[in-house]
Amino acid sequence: MKQFTETLDYLKSRGITAPETGIILGTGLGDLAGHIDAELIVDYEEIPHFPVSTVETHKGKLIYGMLSGRKVLAMQGRFHYYEGYTMQQIVFPVRIMKMLGVSALLISNAAGGINLEMGKGSLMLIDDHINLLPANPLTGPNHNGLGTRFPDMSRPYDPKLNELFMKAAEAEGIKLHTGVYAAVAGPNLETRAEYRFLRTIGADVVGMSTVPEVIACNHMQLPCAAVSVITDECDPDNLAPADISDIIATAATAEKSLTRLFKHVLANL
Ligand code: HPA
Repeated sequence: MKQFTETLDYLKSRGITAPETGIILGTGLGDLAGHIDAELIVDYEEIPHFPVSTVETHKGKLIYGMLSGRKVLAMQGRFHYYEGYTMQQIVFPVRIMKMLGVSALLISNAAGGINLEMGKGSLMLIDDHINLLPANPLTGPNHNGLGTRFPDMSRPYDPKLNELFMKAAEAEGIKLHTGVYAAVAGPNLETRAEYRFLRTIGADVVGMSTVPEVIACNHMQLPCAAVSVITDECDPDNLAPADISDIIATAATAEKSLTRLFKHVLANL
């Protein structure tokens, strides 16, 4: 597709030639970006065909540099369905990362805790997901050059990467739960009945991102892993009104351990 070529040519001309690992940093989880020994930082709005953020107050950035001995390409700021982007726009940067040569994608997000054994502020490695989003990035003609029409999703999160995450958590003394992420469109938080429904269908956490990118990764056979920071407890029987500033503040408290975890994994890739 012409769009892919134009974006790739632009990023390569800026010097992004050989990233090894892609990273997507979720809401309130920008701390890791500050640890990257950056060679280049590109604003999304400079990049041809990148979705342009109109809603968010801070602009997205692509950061290229070294982290734990790896050449990484990190997205500081991701695109959500509730912002009005199409699914194809949301996964465009992931496809570009793969075309630039990354061999793995590490993702973080903020999520609500459905399984109340996982407390506020804790971390969960996503082992599987339930897609409740109303659209899919693979709808429409298949890009045969990227992947097959009906991609397998039996192991959407790479078992080897997940093993590395569990080992890294142990080595760093960080408690890392594992579980199922349910993706919803948002932007409203859920009702009590919806939280009960999510618990019944087997979700451990709920969030508004990640699944489109993971579907795109599986389509392209790009190994990926994702960690959720549990920012609020979604107990239908004692539901307090949601406070978005509290959710973002809780994400920030988990940033340090998330950074240590990601750095440890990168060093052992
Ligand atoms: N629901 C959906 N998305 C979220 C939540 C939630 O409770 N918390 C953080 N992201």
